[in-house]
Amino acid sequence: AAAQLDASRLNVQKVSKAKDLPPPEQLVFGKSFTDHILSIEWDAESGWAAPQIKPYGPLALDPAAVVFHYAFECFEGMKAFKDIDGDIRLFRPDRNMARLNSSSERICLPTFDSEEMIKLLKEYVKLEKNLIPDKKGYSLYLRPTMIGIDAGLGVGTPKKALLYVIASPVGPYYPTGFKAVRLEATDYAVRAWPGGVGNKKLGANYAPCILPQQQAASRGFQQNLWLFGPEGNITEVGTMNAFFVFKDSTTGKKELATAPLDGTILEGVTRDSILELARERLNPNEWKISERYCTIHEVAEAAKKGELVEAFGAGTAAIVSPIKEISYHNEPIYVPLQEGKETGQLTETVANWISEIQYGIIDHPYCQKI
Ligand code: COI
Repeated sequence: AAAQLDASRLNVQKVSKAKDLPPPEQLVFGKSFTDHILSIEWDAESGWAAPQIKPYGPLALDPAAVVFHYAFECFEGMKAFKDIDGDIRLFRPDRNMARLNSSSERICLPTFDSEEMIKLLKEYVKLEKNLIPDKKGYSLYLRPTMIGIDAGLGVGTPKKALLYVIASPVGPYYPTGFKAVRLEATDYAVRAWPGGVGNKKLGANYAPCILPQQQAASRGFQQNLWLFGPEGNITEVGTMNAFFVFKDSTTGKKELATAPLDGTILEGVTRDSILELARERLNPNEWKISERYCTIHEVAEAAKKGELVEAFGAGTAAIVSPIKEISYHNEPIYVPLQEGKETGQLTETVANWISEIQYGIIDHPYCQKI
């Protein structure tokens, strides 16, 4: 029978000389990597091979490997933190491993035992602990990746795969703290569609999104806002989930809304954490927490009436990213910010909730201490 993924079979081959952590100001997102790679080969007949941690370096793959031709690739983004006591914490690794399995399965790559993989991630992160920055806003970004590696141009089920993890010490997305972004709403291209794979973290979902983003950038916008359908439903912002805060001017009741997980929306771990924490912590007499589509027209209308209170993107890389303007058909929709700040109030609160959990200021089941 094909072997299951087994963390106890781990082989570790360390580098002879460990790297130093670059100074914080030099940490550009995803540019520098740690000393080692965690990798596990899979073969349809023999199953999962013994996991290996070995020196970081190039992969040798056949030019006919299916990853290069038919996009047999999926990945994860997750983070390890050095907490206020100097201990290491992983944020919701179970979620990332579940999503990687679900992405992998969708493109006929193998699945694996998440618990075993989390044990391996912990060993790997422990080995790289000197390369985890300990300042607030800093972390070790982990990039688990699954690729199909058998050589052959026939389109079919991969018979060989490689699951590997690399790690990059990262700082805040914006070194100056929050910086609210201006967006251009895109409706000439769509990110995902019903029945498609928008809810899976496939590399193939990302490459086609750069051109619309470049076009938005050429007109002076940092990111694009993805719309779908004749109603102008807002789906995501750049590579993040999108959140809106409204306030009904007659009742005074506020609403935090984000798109529902209907198969076209990436099932963000940060998105899920924000919804869960908001449901637990916001006063239900004042707040409604909704998973529903907001349309661009509704957002424009609310802004006009003074009922649009905040907007932000949410993802692992930036955690939350405040939005200050959305351009739709060349008309600006302005999103208010707090006086003298680059963020709305709830946006700031939510960012603090997550940061307190990640840096161990409070103990919360989302974080596993290693
Ligand atoms: C995120 O964490 O927000 C992302 O999806 C970005 C990542 C692909 C770099």
